[in-house]
Amino acid sequence: MRAIVMREFGGPDVLRLEDVPEPGPRGGHMLVDVTLAGVNYADVHARGDSYLAPVELPYVPGNEVVGTDGGRRVVGLCRGGGYAERTLLHRRVTWDVPDAVSDEQAVALALQGNSAWHLLFTSLRITEGETVVVPAAAGGVGSLAVQLAARAGARVIGLAGSAEKRKLAQELGAHAVVDSTAEDLTERILDAAGGPVEAALEMTGGATFARTLAAVAPRGRLAVYGFAGGDLASVPTRDLMEKSLTVSGFWLPQLYADRTALPTSMKALFDAVEDGCLTPLTGAVHPLGDAARAHRELAARTGTGKLALDVTR
Ligand SMILES: NC(=O)c1ccc[n+]([C@@H]2O[C@H](COP(=O)([O-])OP(=O)(O)OC[C@H]3O[C@@H](n4cnc5c(N)ncnc54)[C@H](OP(=O)(O)O)[C@@H]3O)[C@@H](O)[C@H]2O)c1
Repeated sequence: MRAIVMREFGGPDVLRLEDVPEPGPRGGHMLVDVTLAGVNYADVHARGDSYLAPVELPYVPGNEVVGTDGGRRVVGLCRGGGYAERTLLHRRVTWDVPDAVSDEQAVALALQGNSAWHLLFTSLRITEGETVVVPAAAGGVGSLAVQLAARAGARVIGLAGSAEKRKLAQELGAHAVVDSTAEDLTERILDAAGGPVEAALEMTGGATFARTLAAVAPRGRLAVYGFAGGDLASVPTRDLMEKSLTVSGFWLPQLYADRTALPTSMKALFDAVEDGCLTPLTGAVHPLGDAARAHRELAARTGTGKLALDVTR
């Protein structure tokens, strides 16, 4: 079968199309014919050997796919192996896709949708009327988080790196938008929100973590789920005490073995799409062999919505 194989860590060019043997059978798993493989920021980290989970070479990237198992259309999560014509999905993290949900929408919901849902409703416990900061508000996780938070009655302050992306974030439901690259990010968030915010998501790390935390009100909450900028931030515990802040961490794979967390969020996400309350923002879809191009786009911050690879092309 065709697959993207990484034989070394490095830039996008280490992602090469090869013919490799299909994965053998494995207990608890199903072998799926992949239609679309989702591209996520975690794949960029895995390529550069900076991911939370250690990566062993040779490695086929990709942590989510939509595909078919006989007559069933399914979407599922995996730990590598997604950028391939066939992959193994554990049955516990694989779901039938409702007819009303397209392949492009389903692949946006698996990793990024479930992350957005649990960040807002499990980690931050957002409630109606609260103000929440959502970074990369036109990106994969962010575009879904903006819609979910707004639908829950929260006021959303969306961060995004270009005027086009900020306009998109407003169309998705952000009440105000801020340039994510601004040096005076804290002041801009405070201006946009009319004061300190009750809750914030943070996925860039480094100075952006500190600037976002500084905009959180006493007794507020911040959930950390990424370090796209490459620098892991340190938590200033003195500030946490002074302001009675809660900073929590989030990594979706910690929910894979939980029997209720992902089935609950996946159903809520499918229902919301079917009801027309949630519209996954589909982005560029490249042929499998163009995985390197997809990674370049993600790291360059140029894309919007869900980036995916069409494995049938
Ligand atoms: N912990 C988890 O379980 C989990 C799950 C899913 C995703 N994540 C994390 O969530 C974040 C978003 O992931 P995604 O797959 O949905 O990607 P994405 O938002 O579609 O794309 C990444 C976006 O991050 C923003 N960004 C900020 N600083 C950046 C930098 N230094 N380099 C590149 N991009 C930067 C850019 O938006 P602007 O230009 O608009 O600022 C960029 O478009 C990543 O940090 C990822 O690791 C974590």
